Amino acid sequence: MTKNVFFEQLEKYGQQKFIGTFEGLAAEAQAKILEQADLLDFNMIADVDVKQQELPRGVIEPIKTLTIEEYKDKAEHYRKIGLDAIRAGKIGALLLAGGMGTRLGYDHAKGMYDIGITKPVFIFQRTIENIMDVTKEAGCCIHLYVMTSHLNDTETREFFKEHNYFGYDGNYVHFYMQDMAPCLDREGNMFLAAEDAIAMSPNGNGGFYSSLVNSGLGKQMHEAGIEYINVFAVDNVLQRIADPVFAGATIESGCATGAKVVAKAAPDERVGAICLEDGTPSVVEYYDMTPELMAAKLEDGTPAYNFGVILNYLFRVKDIDEVVSSKLPVHLVNKQVPYLDYVGGKPETVTPEKPNAFKLETLSLDLVHLTDSCLPFEVVREKEFAPIKNPTGIDSVESARKLLQDCGYVL
Ligand code: UTP
Repeated sequence: MTKNVFFEQLEKYGQQKFIGTFEGLAAEAQAKILEQADLLDFNMIADVDVKQQELPRGVIEPIKTLTIEEYKDKAEHYRKIGLDAIRAGKIGALLLAGGMGTRLGYDHAKGMYDIGITKPVFIFQRTIENIMDVTKEAGCCIHLYVMTSHLNDTETREFFKEHNYFGYDGNYVHFYMQDMAPCLDREGNMFLAAEDAIAMSPNGNGGFYSSLVNSGLGKQMHEAGIEYINVFAVDNVLQRIADPVFAGATIESGCATGAKVVAKAAPDERVGAICLEDGTPSVVEYYDMTPELMAAKLEDGTPAYNFGVILNYLFRVKDIDEVVSSKLPVHLVNKQVPYLDYVGGKPETVTPEKPNAFKLETLSLDLVHLTDSCLPFEVVREKEFAPIKNPTGIDSVESARKLLQDCGYVL
């Protein structure tokens, strides 16, 4: 990006202060900053107000979930519908792998993390093993789209190649990069992470479809005849991908979206709860769950918001095509973001001990609300939900290993 275009963008989005910061830098650092500016989605800052961190919410009400008990007698019927759709090439899979995995404290793409005990077992390997359970059953391959970010794109591509796609057909694996968003300080200003680096982060998993379209892969997806896309997180090592029963149930329901949900372990568990918001399906994030919502009960006495999403959605492509130009809400995430400081007059990158700034993210769960109709589909928690967010404790390498072993997986 040229300096002029960069300054125009900064002015347009109220970031005049950064012009001064930029002007004070050496020519080499300026050149690097201009390269990074090309990666930024400036539009993300258009509507954010750091003084108003909470997004307005509508009226939250319970939604009906299709429970395991309710569909168990129809599972084989759904499986057939799902397998037929897979064999007809109508279902694709999309791995969200652009996150920074900061909580895990690992410096590479999270999928490269080895959770093995007696042998290497990489998180990406688990993704491929899981999708291959279905491709073997269906007798055909499924297109797998992998969303990376500027921070991990090269290493992710190389890792898959080096491991021969863990036995998957590499022609069916398509990588693309998501955009970055500038981080904002407490006053809403952009800042430097180093003398030659803008503080920035991947712009959240909600941009998976617009970035796919921008990369040119949206066209490929349409040409391949894909009608439904199964979007899932990298870090759930028990993730069932392109699950034919789930796909069949969603297709038969006629809904634009299917969302896999699990019974919450506790009312305050840190998972988003599926609900209705102003009459349309939505997800209320755990930090928006008020004590009233946590305590709410249905007529039969069961908790009203008992089902949590596990970041495994089936989206009908024509419906996300329709909403892709509508603006997803931008979430301000309070995080520890390294920043440039002058210690004793010398420039130094400081990693703060407490959250000091906001990362800007859009979330794929907001697409559930925008696409209007959703089938919440319950799955067995112990068989399908083993997220790795932290090294130890809740949702950790330790807990995921235990869940995998309980499912008979040798690590
Ligand atoms: P998380 O919200 O858990 O974020 O991602 P994270 O970046 O992996 O981890 P922390 O918060 O820094 O510790 C849920 C899923 O969304 C993907 C992640 O890769 C993961 O699969 N994601 C997240 C993206 O693809 N892009 C993003 O910008 C953020």
